Amino acid sequence: MKRDRGTLCSCGVVVAAALYVVLCSTISVVSGNNCNVYEGEWVYDDETYPLFNSTRCPFIRKEFDCSKYGRSDHHYLHYRWQPNGCDLPRISVAYFSSHYLVDIEMEEFGRVLKLGSLKSGEIWKRFDVLVFNTWLWWHRRGIKQPWDYIEDEGIIVEDMDRTIAFTKALMRWAKWVESDVDPYKTKVFFRGVSPAHYRGEEWNEPGVRNCSKETRPMTGSSYPSGEPLAAKIVKDILSSNTTSVHLLDITTLSQLRKDGHPGTHNGYKGMDCTHWCVAGVPDTWNHLLYTQLLQQDQNGDAPDPYNYFTSDYL
Ligand SMILES: *[C@@H]1O[C@H](CO)[C@@H](O)[C@H](O)[C@H]1NC(C)=O
Ligand SMILES: *[C@@H]1O[C@H](CO)[C@@H](O)[C@H](O)[C@H]1NC(C)=O
Ligand SMILES: *[C@@H]1O[C@H](CO)[C@@H](O)[C@H](O)[C@H]1NC(C)=O
Repeated sequence: MKRDRGTLCSCGVVVAAALYVVLCSTISVVSGNNCNVYEGEWVYDDETYPLFNSTRCPFIRKEFDCSKYGRSDHHYLHYRWQPNGCDLPRISVAYFSSHYLVDIEMEEFGRVLKLGSLKSGEIWKRFDVLVFNTWLWWHRRGIKQPWDYIEDEGIIVEDMDRTIAFTKALMRWAKWVESDVDPYKTKVFFRGVSPAHYRGEEWNEPGVRNCSKETRPMTGSSYPSGEPLAAKIVKDILSSNTTSVHLLDITTLSQLRKDGHPGTHNGYKGMDCTHWCVAGVPDTWNHLLYTQLLQQDQNGDAPDPYNYFTSDYL
């Protein structure tokens, strides 16, 4: 398990199909091939973390820029994810504008979220690496809900159980991956559900209702409340409906990071225990993505980060 420190460092923006990706990266080489990188624990690492200074990255959006908005504790910046059997390579922060996987289309009577329609797929499948995720937006209501109706199997409804809608959209997406994406050309990843921290009982602090006082991760490798339902749905659908999608299984390791959210340190008013500070936990998600890319790449060559296409992280 050797660790080669990387030298490549870049901060760049890619615009693709109205989504954007930001990369501020430092790369080094992975070792230890047959290792479950999603099992491990957070270790304090004062030497190598944080991987970059967020004040020097001009692309960080208001939701994520904790240090700009006054988060003064620095402990959370120094945790490194340590898998049980290997080390991770070092790479990038990537974050993206937000999205349902299926289409929202304008009709005469309003905006319709179409659970069976996936037109954006035509653009996506041209890329070499696709990284998808969706979940949080499924529960948005009021002004944050970007559609007026849902179309489900040809029928227009005003609303429906959001977990069911999410499940149907994900199955539609899985069908698209299997029928339309060439697994020899395009590598497909699905980033698992990103957890929030508003319910202290989940981490053995009953009565706590937000993350404002959290400055340390959980120790160990398991989270007291287990995974959320959506994470189980994702696993079921990916394992039974797809053959070549790799799940970036970040749910549990992110649950351990109750200290990683902005709290009140964001560019909006209010408490945010849903998004993550950058630098922070999303850096580790990217290490894991890069680890998988290296492990799958037969030549062992580092892929070109600017060919990535990612859907939302929000
Ligand atoms: C980050 O960069 C800013 C501006 O260059 C500097 O003032 C600050 O001390 C740096 N922070 C760290 C932790 O290096
Ligand atoms: C956050 O939690 C603390 C204590 O757990 C509480 O005093 C505070 O009112 C909460 N803030 C918000 C905005 O919910
Ligand atoms: C897709 O996944 C769901 C949930 O796990 C399962 O019920 C269904 O049978 C699967 N469909 C196919 C075509 O494999």
